[in-house]
Amino acid sequence: MPPPHTLQPAETPAPAEAVAPLMRGIAVLRRLTDEGGTMSPSAIERTTGLARSTVDRITATLARMEYVRVDGRDVTLAPRLMELGNAYLSALRLPSLLGARADALADELDESVSLAVGDGDGIRFIHQATRRRAMSLSFRIGDLLPAERTAPGPLLAAGWDAHQWRRWREQRASDPDGLAFTAVPPSPPMAEKDFSVRTERARHDGWALDDQSIEPGLVALAVPVRAADGEVACFVSVVSHTSRHTAASLRDTLLPRLLAAAAAMEQDLRQAPPAVAPDSPAALASWTGASKQELGREFNESLARGLTVLAALGEGRDALTLTDVARTTGLARATARRALITLEHLGYVTAQGRAHHLTPRVLALGYPPLSLTTLPQIAQPHLTALTGQVRDSVSLAVLIGGDVQYTGRVATRRIMNVNITVGTRFPAHATSMGRVLLAALPPAERESRLAGAEPHALTPYTVTGPAELRTVLDRVREDGYALVDEELEVGLRSVAVPLHDCRGTVVAAVNVAMHSSSRTREECVTDVLPRLRATASRIEADLHITERFVRVPAM
Ligand code: PHB
Repeated sequence: MPPPHTLQPAETPAPAEAVAPLMRGIAVLRRLTDEGGTMSPSAIERTTGLARSTVDRITATLARMEYVRVDGRDVTLAPRLMELGNAYLSALRLPSLLGARADALADELDESVSLAVGDGDGIRFIHQATRRRAMSLSFRIGDLLPAERTAPGPLLAAGWDAHQWRRWREQRASDPDGLAFTAVPPSPPMAEKDFSVRTERARHDGWALDDQSIEPGLVALAVPVRAADGEVACFVSVVSHTSRHTAASLRDTLLPRLLAAAAAMEQDLRQAPPAVAPDSPAALASWTGASKQELGREFNESLARGLTVLAALGEGRDALTLTDVARTTGLARATARRALITLEHLGYVTAQGRAHHLTPRVLALGYPPLSLTTLPQIAQPHLTALTGQVRDSVSLAVLIGGDVQYTGRVATRRIMNVNITVGTRFPAHATSMGRVLLAALPPAERESRLAGAEPHALTPYTVTGPAELRTVLDRVREDGYALVDEELEVGLRSVAVPLHDCRGTVVAAVNVAMHSSSRTREECVTDVLPRLRATASRIEADLHITERFVRVPAM
């Protein structure tokens, strides 16, 4: 497991060997993250102080890496960027080892539970188990809060030495409104005396409270979780609202259960199997070289190479030496060295002796906004691209009872009498997406869904006979797609394929719908289906990156 993190150095000049394009590219990603994920190039230019031509080259490079999308006038963070935060979280291992227990505790208490680590003078979230309530009390994975205004903060500061307190003091003096903490509204720092009193108490008690200092109405209780070596690995917090708990009642009623959960987590950490390194990634260096060939001046190879170093320091690879980094990425040793020097200077990598580790700051590269992405949002650009290829309407849907419900749609011309929008429902048995979704269900569940809504005919061609429908669904399951011809509406033909989550479960379906006169059934299979399948694969790839440490809502 990576070491606990010390305070980052204050603004120090960049070392002579630092890679300037990497620094600028990271500045752009940080700015996009702080602005919620989308900005115009001119806004990036204005807020980073970079020249427009530099901004364009950076965004072209990031777009080539699929870390951003450039559509129309905007630059938007893209799901693939989460592979950087995923590298940190997988190297850290805590979300994988403790996340399920945090989720179970949230269920048991019916309150939100979070896991967080210290990051310099702040607290950064690495896992969220959020209760859905009218009043949302949750920060996002990757959000950074000022330590002194949180429950875990005093527990973190209990481990600080004089040098780290001085750093805290300097940081607050240099940023009196707390503008560095973009997840919370600006606010002046707490007096040092108050923070140190709370820290002393936390050291003595082994737990700490936040009584609405981060947000009115929010109360939180935190305890540390220690690794096998006795060092604090992370903090687990239960978060509530003053409509349900005062800070005192939160402690009185929930502290014993929070401590028990932390003890169980510590047991999990003691028993954790050793980390396993995945197969080496493909030769990243040759990929960046090929992109350079293709895009020329518009592709900044130094930026791409530097970011591949971050992605390479993932699970089982969190203590790589320079030699290991060069081998894993395929970069020349001198290139890898300069990238590491730059990333260390910026606080995304720390070195302990010769071993390099990612820091929690890596999560500031896109994770907070991207961790809230839904499946329809992930799918949307891919649906749009497919519509452009096939010139017909493309949709996304989920199964609700015996119906399909549209969750995404990119329409071309109106080809149907019915007007389909997001939210529209149709009987699943008569639609291509519904058939794909029904076909993926375990047999008993399929039967009960069909029984729930007696299949009825929508056109003269609708298959409604239970035996025939079963045969059709078995066939769909075998083929991996459904083609439905005029069963929902006369003149309408559609073809659908399933979307799988990272466990292989079908979570949604995508289809192309067209007028029956525009293509034959055969053409649907030979022309449309391959493109539809390619689209589904691209959506799945983005989904699998996004849901590695985050629950992605299907709608
Ligand atoms: C806090 O204010 O201390 C706090 C807020 C949200 C959390 C955990 C702690 O999830």
